[in-house]
Amino acid sequence: METTMKEKLTSQEAIDLENKYGAHNYHPLPVVLSKGKGVYVWDAEGKQYYDFLSAYSAVNQGHSHPKIVKALTDQASTLALTSRAFYNDVLGVYEKYITEYFGFDKVLPMNSGAEAVETALKLTRKWAYEKKGIAENEAKIIVCENNFHGRTTTIISFSNDPDARKNFGPYTPGFIKIPYNDINALEEALKDNNVAGFMAEPIQGEAGVYVPDEGYISEASALCKAAGVLFIADEVQTGIARTGKLLAVDHENVKPDVLILGKAISGGVYPVSAVLANDSIMEVIRPGEHGSTFGGNPLAAKVAIAALEVIKDEKLAENAEKLGQLFRAEINKLVDECDLVKLVRGKGLLNAIVINDSEDSSTAWDICMKLRDNGLLAKPTHGNIIRFAPPLVMNEEQLMDCVSIIKKTILEF
Ligand SMILES: Cc1ncc(COP(=O)(O)O)c(C=O)c1O
Repeated sequence: METTMKEKLTSQEAIDLENKYGAHNYHPLPVVLSKGKGVYVWDAEGKQYYDFLSAYSAVNQGHSHPKIVKALTDQASTLALTSRAFYNDVLGVYEKYITEYFGFDKVLPMNSGAEAVETALKLTRKWAYEKKGIAENEAKIIVCENNFHGRTTTIISFSNDPDARKNFGPYTPGFIKIPYNDINALEEALKDNNVAGFMAEPIQGEAGVYVPDEGYISEASALCKAAGVLFIADEVQTGIARTGKLLAVDHENVKPDVLILGKAISGGVYPVSAVLANDSIMEVIRPGEHGSTFGGNPLAAKVAIAALEVIKDEKLAENAEKLGQLFRAEINKLVDECDLVKLVRGKGLLNAIVINDSEDSSTAWDICMKLRDNGLLAKPTHGNIIRFAPPLVMNEEQLMDCVSIIKKTILEF
């Protein structure tokens, strides 16, 4: 196929190329996107869709937001990368901005979500040895069953998804796994004096938008505080206004000791992630002990400032809260009138429906294929669960249009 010289590929040509030359580490819905703007994306043949996934909640500010794209192009043509071997004149401005924005003393900038999680784990261990006095190599970190924190060898060591783990061992020790949303299990696990931290997602996104009981996050945080253990919130997916507050922990007025952010911190135009903590924790990291060539580069810094400004300027948390209420109310009507949808759950614009079929059935996938045909893109998370997470710049009229596509598709199924 003479694709290198051809200007525009058909969808089938693009799929064939990926299949032949790319590792098969994803199973995409068969739709080939070639353009995005706001809440919409277009395929290679020009068909328009509502994006109801937002690149796993990275595109909260909408596709190609003009302010974020301008920050990207302006900075790219000025200075993109210096490495941290030298100072640059943007990083400090960004560090001041993001720490004030979230109310922490310091930030450690990285690129992907998984890298930020790794950073938080390393920070927690080092704090445990140097501040809490745990004997070297004995620190443990409590995590939750059905977690999703990324794909590195350490992170998959405490996953319980067989696809993520099998044949990737040997696994990193030092983690205790407890059931999610089980405060007694946490209390029990915290009795171990070698526990340094408890890391959790305030809502388990990949697991299927599993929202814990009200009070779980605040009780967990209080238990950690009483035990002298760091509470580490992984807000890579739930943060940056997705759940109707700036952070999902804000629903329970909790301030984590260590905050992990990624995805929408850049509005999806560039990989940016961050770990935030106060000085008493962050000061254990000294020169040469952790880093990344791209982490904190001027391009990322400018993009992240713009993306975070958009969240506040356009009141996206408030919009997510309002539209989320409306979305769940409308989908609950569908739950009442149709057996195929068991329930809808979520917060803000991070929602999921559970399909009334066995977990290994293809029904959720088949529904997503029909939604695609009807102009809306969503993807099953696990088994029979479909996640619905549109860009937060959606308006009420667009949301109601999406609701009618979802209702029509499911009622016809
Ligand atoms: C809660 C959470 N943590 C970490 C990650 C990993 O982020 P990345 O894919 O950027 O490495 C994800 C990705 O979905 C996530 O949802």
